[in-house]
Amino acid sequence: MISLSLVAASTLFVGAHALTPNNLVSASTSGSLSALKYTNVGGTGSYMQVTNMLPGEWPSCTVNPSCIQTEKQISGNLAPFNEEMTMVFQGPMNIHNIAVYQPANSTAATWKQTSLFNAGQAPTNLVFMNNDGGGASGEWSICGGASQSYANGTWNGAAASPNAQIYNGFLDENSQMNIMTAETCQESACDGFSRGTANHGWGDSKMFVMTFDMPPSSTPSKTPAIWGLNAQVVRSAQYGCNCRGMGSPGGCGEIDILENLNAAGANPNQGVSEVYSFKGATGSGNNNYFARPLDSIVTYAVIFDEQTDQILIEQLSEWDYTQTAVTRSVIDAYLSSPAMIVSFNTNARRSERPRSFMGAHRRRHGH
Ligand SMILES: *[C@@H]1O[C@H](CO)[C@@H](O)[C@H](O)[C@H]1NC(C)=O
Ligand SMILES: *[C@@H]1O[C@H](CO)[C@@H](O)[C@H](O)[C@H]1NC(C)=O
Repeated sequence: MISLSLVAASTLFVGAHALTPNNLVSASTSGSLSALKYTNVGGTGSYMQVTNMLPGEWPSCTVNPSCIQTEKQISGNLAPFNEEMTMVFQGPMNIHNIAVYQPANSTAATWKQTSLFNAGQAPTNLVFMNNDGGGASGEWSICGGASQSYANGTWNGAAASPNAQIYNGFLDENSQMNIMTAETCQESACDGFSRGTANHGWGDSKMFVMTFDMPPSSTPSKTPAIWGLNAQVVRSAQYGCNCRGMGSPGGCGEIDILENLNAAGANPNQGVSEVYSFKGATGSGNNNYFARPLDSIVTYAVIFDEQTDQILIEQLSEWDYTQTAVTRSVIDAYLSSPAMIVSFNTNARRSERPRSFMGAHRRRHGH
């Protein structure tokens, strides 16, 4: 069923007037942002796809090479963000809801809800994973380390099967988890290397809607973040042998959506956004940020749109998670609403705040 519940009837003009969704927050396109839109996202290039990981043998664990990669050529709108993606979350965070909407093809008139999580309820076509393979699920070896695992109900340990426990939605400040669809790489082949517990991500055009807050940390060095990755990255080794990178050849796609930096000199309550691919990197730049929702619950939509070759990160005032579809005209209305616009033609707008490339996403403590 197509629902237009988020669009007031009075705003549905035909003709010259554009449709205006009634759940936009006050527009702010610099400083504390309401929306950031990356344009000219895709292109033609390549990245180093992981095709195997050789662990070597104890005690040296050395094998050369150990990370087996093959150059993969890609091109087109959104490339490489048209490939299957996962979203990664680092606490402290309360996650209240997550929904994913996808069109049947890049020009379809309707984006249907394909995945849903409401805290305290069993998810639909959405599996929570973390990097604790080898105990309850997934695999571990002394030289190869841990694969992904099914996350347990508190997201800080592994469970034997997907969604074995109910998630109340709190992710502690020492933990990371990521989301995948319910379809495993055994049921249908996944792109690139996978081992242990491995599922598909969301491919082609997609919209993630997420409602969350990021409460205070116990120390400034523990900062919450949400970022998107090519799903291949977590299926190999999220911190090690993977297809991440920046510039050519490399860069199978990372987008930091709201990343609060923990480096000295950075404001831990200002979330920066950056995008990385084989094209290089760009982002929100200095002094533009998404405010960390320390004591309020916020809703963000992240739209990856193949048709217009854009990625939009937009704060919304609300979302009706019972709506099972969104029309293309509503997607277009979000895409044309006020936003800070960053073209991915150049590498010009990266933040000069202290951070190291991909260094901000630390390994979990205690492992
Ligand atoms: C795109 O999907 C829509 C909805 O399923 C369908 O009607 C249309 O024929 C598809 N277009 C193409 C080019 O496949
Ligand atoms: C999940 O695993 C962690 C680590 O083993 C454990 O501390 C936690 O209690 C587990 N959560 C649940 C709900 O069993």
